[in-house]
Amino acid sequence: MYNKQGRRGDLAMNVMALVVTTGVFVGLSVWFLIAERYLANYGKCTIKLNEGDKLFELNGGGTLLSALYENKIFIPSAFGGKGSCRYCKVTVVEGGGPLLPTETPYLTRAERMSGVRLACQVKVKQDMEIKIPEELLYVQEFQARVSGVKELTRDIKEVTFELIEPNEISHRPGQYVQVRAPGPDGIVTRAYSISSPVYEKNIVQLVVRLVPGGIGSTYIHNLKEGDPVSFTGPYGEFRLNEDPEVENVCVGGGAGMAPIRCIIYSIFHRWLERSCWLFFGCRTTKDIFYMENYEELSKKHTNFK
Ligand code: FES
Repeated sequence: MYNKQGRRGDLAMNVMALVVTTGVFVGLSVWFLIAERYLANYGKCTIKLNEGDKLFELNGGGTLLSALYENKIFIPSAFGGKGSCRYCKVTVVEGGGPLLPTETPYLTRAERMSGVRLACQVKVKQDMEIKIPEELLYVQEFQARVSGVKELTRDIKEVTFELIEPNEISHRPGQYVQVRAPGPDGIVTRAYSISSPVYEKNIVQLVVRLVPGGIGSTYIHNLKEGDPVSFTGPYGEFRLNEDPEVENVCVGGGAGMAPIRCIIYSIFHRWLERSCWLFFGCRTTKDIFYMENYEELSKKHTNFK
């Protein structure tokens, strides 16, 4: 009896101690977060980019991703920069602080060893030196308006953006843009391949499949002619082989046909006789689109099969 009561007493004490410790820990964490958010003042910080190619000064405290964005350096990102898409990798040479637990699952050992970090997780708290791929320096922010919407299949739409500012885009076949879409927690960005050929410089055309519950695809499927849109781009490292003797084989289906359409039309605009095969995969004949365009193209270019 005595032992039972004693054990109950010990248990109650342990539970109480656990509750108090957890409470103190949670309280301190909240206090640190509030202090970090509102009280910490890191003053002016300088970011040196690509060995001094660009240098800018800003108020510390925000994420590296938003600091770069404010200075018109657009790093790929998705899901509102919440640290799970792995797109926003940059090399931090100096000033990034220790690697964060929110970054480690998304970086390989080699990346961690060479200073690769997630720009959406690293905070600017001191002067920093970073490196990004050269071509990201040419990514621009575009303001555009919807100039066409076409249903291609029951769940795929072709949407055309007429560029306003800047009014021309220079991209390579196979590249993509990141469209800004309103989400429940603010603006999110979603990546879509450009389907219009590279010589159509005043427009960007996308082929987007509606994903049930998808923020980006729902937004794009509800756009109407005249609606304003904004996006950044072009992104992507895909490069078409420049040797006209090399045969191209394109395999795709559904919305994956977007970059392929851009590649095929860009090829035949530049190399009239180049050999190119297209394999279009689909479940039913109702899922085929652009067939008449490709048939027409194959009449003009007999090496297109
Ligand atoms: S923006 Fe997605 S991981 Fe950083």
